[in-house]
Amino acid sequence: MDLVLFGGQPIRQKPFTPWPTYGAEEETALLEVLRSRSWGGYNEKVKEFETAFAGMHKVQHAIACANGTVALEAALSAVGIQCGDEVIVPPITFISTAMAVLSRHGVPVFADIDPSTLNLSPQAVEQAVSPRTRAIIVVHFGGHPADIDALCGIARQHGLAFIEDAAHAHGAAWRGTPVGNFGDAATFSFQAFKLATAGEGGAILTNSQALAEKIWGYCNLGRRHGGGWFEHFTLGTNHRLTGFQAGVISAQLKRLPEQIRVRGENVEYFRERLRAFRGLTFAEYDQRVTSHPNYLVTLRYDPAAFAGVERDLFLRALQSEGIPAQPTYPHPLYRNPLFQSLPPCGCGKWSTPQDYKSLFLPESERVCKDGIWLEHSMFLGTRQDIDDIIAAFEKIQQQAGSLVQLRES
Ligand SMILES: Cc1ncc(COP(=O)(O)O)c(C=O)c1O
Repeated sequence: MDLVLFGGQPIRQKPFTPWPTYGAEEETALLEVLRSRSWGGYNEKVKEFETAFAGMHKVQHAIACANGTVALEAALSAVGIQCGDEVIVPPITFISTAMAVLSRHGVPVFADIDPSTLNLSPQAVEQAVSPRTRAIIVVHFGGHPADIDALCGIARQHGLAFIEDAAHAHGAAWRGTPVGNFGDAATFSFQAFKLATAGEGGAILTNSQALAEKIWGYCNLGRRHGGGWFEHFTLGTNHRLTGFQAGVISAQLKRLPEQIRVRGENVEYFRERLRAFRGLTFAEYDQRVTSHPNYLVTLRYDPAAFAGVERDLFLRALQSEGIPAQPTYPHPLYRNPLFQSLPPCGCGKWSTPQDYKSLFLPESERVCKDGIWLEHSMFLGTRQDIDDIIAAFEKIQQQAGSLVQLRES
């Protein structure tokens, strides 16, 4: 059968599981909030969500907020990041991880990743520590927890704050302990594509009462628990979550364990089927990861196994066969114009120890060239969905020679 690019029929004619999923629970929650007339202001629904979220992660405090970006800003503010403080971050993540550092007038210092997990490499982090380093933000990329043992150890050894950006990692666990327990604070996003969502939303977890109070004040215009509505003690802003969002997120979180189970089984089946396949590799998970929510499945593409067809043409062929695979980020974060036109610091008082213009972190660069993402909702269906993905890979590989001609014509 010809490739669709040559006028053939697609391998897959129907869509994968749509995202987000919802049902009666979300509808009931929304109506409850509507009818309660208590729609905002850290109301009962928000408190219910915070209690459930903290409980699910076995953490003492959860503070709801507007999104995952301000969650990071709140966490950085609470741990005391000030103008010119260096914060080590990965370059393979969404911009918020580094932008939040800039928003707090800190200096993002990029350290390279471990190619098998796409998480910060402990060796690279160790090398990036300087006398001005104050914090490390680890991202549990794609839902795979970062190497907590090594990275937390480095933070402790150098007296650095440790923040987990868990925007991809709802329900992930390391050695049996949910993520969110290991740092001074952990941040989550409930943006439209996340594993639990209300379209937008965020939360911060911490086991420290003092940090929890600071974070709550930061997101709530400098108020204090027990203080009056018109009493403001510290600098903050309004980053509160609404009751509608909290109700929907709570309902979504109830779906999460079953979705993690289904995705986990399908991802394992996919891994099995892919083992026999040349040219697309899927790294094994670290044995210390005891729960992986599979937010993103990252494959590495080898053009040599596809007659030299470059990744983006392979992806075009794959998409036309009905498989909505995506390229990884177009470049590491430091290649964004934001970093290329320094100084990005609002107060202009610091300079970066890294020349972002000439920075080249090889593993981060490589995955932007050869990485392919399959999104989490593709693994929420049946084994037939996985068989279709593999069948499309096989079809393209068999006809890769003709794709080369297409490129050359
Ligand atoms: C790793 C990571 N951190 C932070 C964020 C920011 O979250 P939000 O979009 O809710 O602001 C995202 C969002 O995509 C993310 O992927």
